[in-house]
Amino acid sequence: MSQDMETKKRGASVAIRGVGMDFTRRGETITALDDVTLDIPAGTFCSILGPSGCGKSTLMSLVSGLDTPTRGEVRLDGKTLQGAFHDVGIVFQSDVLLPWVTVLDNVLLPAKVKKQDIGKARERGRKLLENVGLGGFLDHYPGELSGGMRQRASICRALVAEPSVLLMDEPFGALDALTREKMQRDLNRIWAEDAKTVMFITHDIEEAVTMADQVIVMSPRPGKVLTRYEIDFPQPRRPEIRRDPRFQDIVDDIRHVFQTAGVL
Ligand SMILES: Nc1ncnc2c1ncn2[C@@H]1O[C@H](COP(=O)(O)OP(=O)(O)OP(=O)(O)O)[C@@H](O)[C@H]1O
Ligand SMILES: [Mg+2]
Repeated sequence: MSQDMETKKRGASVAIRGVGMDFTRRGETITALDDVTLDIPAGTFCSILGPSGCGKSTLMSLVSGLDTPTRGEVRLDGKTLQGAFHDVGIVFQSDVLLPWVTVLDNVLLPAKVKKQDIGKARERGRKLLENVGLGGFLDHYPGELSGGMRQRASICRALVAEPSVLLMDEPFGALDALTREKMQRDLNRIWAEDAKTVMFITHDIEEAVTMADQVIVMSPRPGKVLTRYEIDFPQPRRPEIRRDPRFQDIVDDIRHVFQTAGVL
């Protein structure tokens, strides 16, 4: 298989090396991130867990190439990122669907922007929507869907152009607990079927551990990597893992790390 095909299949590796990010506002410099180093191997799922304001969204925007780090570098498949990285799908906390466009057309937007074959994209969009239980809502407008359904459509939109990296910034933060658990299961299944490299940002310890191959725990601002956990339960995950004592041990351990860092 050629390297390009291999990357399409498994996603790209993400390497963050000594990354620091300063913001200057009204003459005052704020260090959002300080010396962050981490690796997300191609096709794996990485959760980034950290308190509010520790620089998680900043880190995500550095991986998307929308911002450039003040120090250090981001490498995708070994190449230093310069400028915007287009082969990426992004999901935010609130769904940013266009209210005047149908669900299917919202999902197709990235494929249109990238000028992909629209017939093929439509097929992929339909399949993705069917896969998350939205097959009957292709022609509905976002206002006719629940919050959870809209967020599912947002995930389909992020995946339709087959990006090699999926960035998710607290995608389930606005959902109720039951919907959230269902979405975690759906995302884990979709990801396991068509593994791309995922960077998943959350405040929720159990959510972070449930889906991920590794969890990165960050300190309060300036954000640094406090610890890193390999989560080696088999993928896709079964809901019962939450009752596994090893799962609870990891969750307790992370809670302890946050307590020691003064977060909890
Ligand atoms: N464009 C900017 N200009 C100035 N300061 C910024 C900018 N973007 C982020 N910051 C600051 O950098 C720090 C980290 O912000 P960031 O949004 O990355 O945190 P976060 O971990 O995503 O927080 P939350 O969990 O609340 O979303 C904050 O102190 C924030 O005020
Ligand atoms: Mg944020």
